[in-house]
Amino acid sequence: MVVAVDDSLNDQVVGFALWDVYSEKASNQPQPSAQEPPPPCFDQEAFAELRAIVSSDHQEMFGERGIKDVWHLDYLGVDPQQQRKGIGKILLDWGINRAAGDKKDCYLLATPAGKPLYTKTGFEEVRVVPIFGVSHHSMLFRYNR
Ligand SMILES: CC(C)(COP(=O)(O)OP(=O)(O)OC[C@H]1O[C@@H](n2cnc3c(N)ncnc32)[C@H](O)[C@@H]1OP(=O)(O)O)[C@@H](O)C(=O)NCCC(=O)NCCS
Repeated sequence: MVVAVDDSLNDQVVGFALWDVYSEKASNQPQPSAQEPPPPCFDQEAFAELRAIVSSDHQEMFGERGIKDVWHLDYLGVDPQQQRKGIGKILLDWGINRAAGDKKDCYLLATPAGKPLYTKTGFEEVRVVPIFGVSHHSMLFRYNR
């Protein structure tokens, strides 16, 4: 998890990115036990459906190893008051540069809101994935383009 803070706003967090990077070593460690149960309003069925769609995209994109060989941007969000100031791009470039140092491509499943930033940065769309009736975009940034 990487956060962007704005020192002119008293170090307020103005954006965050969650990058997933597979580690053979970490995957052999014991996993944390179950967390607190979700609140009653949490739609477990919808969540399970979402997980299945996302996991199926990983298989379609990369086969059996799924996302183990890429840097995966899981979430990216910028405070609505602070958007269009380059913060999303900074958080995106952070991962792209580290992935390139690792000789790895970057992968993400973009919302319609996120797609313009990713396209501008150099991600290419590989598949369109409908999620609950909304087209999402399975995208790849190749480090050795
Ligand atoms: C997507 C998101 C993270 C972008 O963050 P941001 O800080 O506003 O993006 P940036 O300012 O770094 O944008 C860089 C460039 O991307 C493009 N871009 C970003 N948002 C855009 C938009 N809404 N429409 C068109 N182009 C856009 C522009 O080319 C922009 O450069 P410019 O402002 O000089 O024209 C932000 O809109 C957000 O949090 N959205 C809601 C959550 C979400 O959908 N996240 C994506 C999950 S996949």
